[in-house]
Amino acid sequence: MIKSSIFMIVLAMIIYGYFTFIYGRLEYEGSERLDGKTVIITGANTGIGKEAAIDLARRGARVICACRSKSRGEAAIEDIKKTSGSNNVVLMMLDLGSLKSVRQFAKDIYAKEERLDVLINNAGLVGPVYRDTTKDGFERMIGVNHLGHFLLTDLLLDLLKKSQPSRIVVVSSGSHTMVPGMNFDDLMSEKSYSVLTTYAYSKLANVLFSFEMSRRLKGTSVTINSLHPGVVMTEVFRYFEDYLQLPSFINKALRWMLSAVLRDARQGAQTVICLAVDKSLQSVSGQFFEECEIYETSEAATNETEAKMLWDISQKLVNLSP
Ligand SMILES: NC(=O)c1ccc[n+]([C@@H]2O[C@H](COP(=O)([O-])OP(=O)(O)OC[C@H]3O[C@@H](n4cnc5c(N)ncnc54)[C@H](OP(=O)(O)O)[C@@H]3O)[C@@H](O)[C@H]2O)c1
Repeated sequence: MIKSSIFMIVLAMIIYGYFTFIYGRLEYEGSERLDGKTVIITGANTGIGKEAAIDLARRGARVICACRSKSRGEAAIEDIKKTSGSNNVVLMMLDLGSLKSVRQFAKDIYAKEERLDVLINNAGLVGPVYRDTTKDGFERMIGVNHLGHFLLTDLLLDLLKKSQPSRIVVVSSGSHTMVPGMNFDDLMSEKSYSVLTTYAYSKLANVLFSFEMSRRLKGTSVTINSLHPGVVMTEVFRYFEDYLQLPSFINKALRWMLSAVLRDARQGAQTVICLAVDKSLQSVSGQFFEECEIYETSEAATNETEAKMLWDISQKLVNLSP
């Protein structure tokens, strides 16, 4: 009994020490400036996207925060301007769960912007607990995390090409390795829905998309890479209580513990920032990153046949001509 208690305490200390002193310490140290450059970040009103917006605004970029809620977006813009000391931060409305909204956003960008140097596909969600659909009838996670960004990137490609060298940064997740391949026979999770598995499919779709896009962008100076930001304490855990269905005091204790050991949003934004600005990555494309470094990913994620299949299906679903 005493032995196992000591073991548990030591294990808890090792886990705490690892997360506090090793895992959380990621910091991109490059001092690159982005004066005269334009960056779009989806889902920049909170979490990783907001922290990336602050950093890139500090570096002199014009930062376009693409958000779906006007009130949350406006509050975030105020904060981003104040914290970064830059006034060159604008809010534009984008709901990735609506193809109409994505098309309107792209139209507005072409009408207002001369250039686009970095597109950061960051917005995403894990949930809700019960299957839900977007305005176009897609399962919400595959719809927002993958299909909305698929259409957005395609529509903005001409501007990225006009502004090259330019970059596309895709915020995926390490959870894409949890599934053995895309669920092509049930892409909308109608037969089977579980939050974590459906999320993993949507994040695998992010990686397959970025590899396939990099092949299609060969010969241009537009690069695309995807990444895992780490496990980060953000509003991505907003469905946490609904999912666990535990008494509220346990939820509170768990949230407190998670906040103590997980990365904060600023730390979670470091690999995003690195992929957006690092000069040494100017011509690196078609890679998956963790901790600002290239990581080997799963066999499923590097399957070219599945990547092409997903591309063709996505094109049809969002009504893009081949
Ligand atoms: N946190 C982690 O541990 C972790 C780990 C691996 C990968 N990631 C990925 O990192 C990215 C950022 O997540 P986060 O942790 O910063 O989460 P977050 O704090 O919940 O931020 C997500 C952002 O996405 C936006 N969003 C959600 N649905 C949208 C829609 N339909 N249209 C436009 N924007 C929408 C949210 O806007 P609202 O506030 O209006 O909902 C919010 O701004 C996500 O792609 C996530 O999958 C996170």
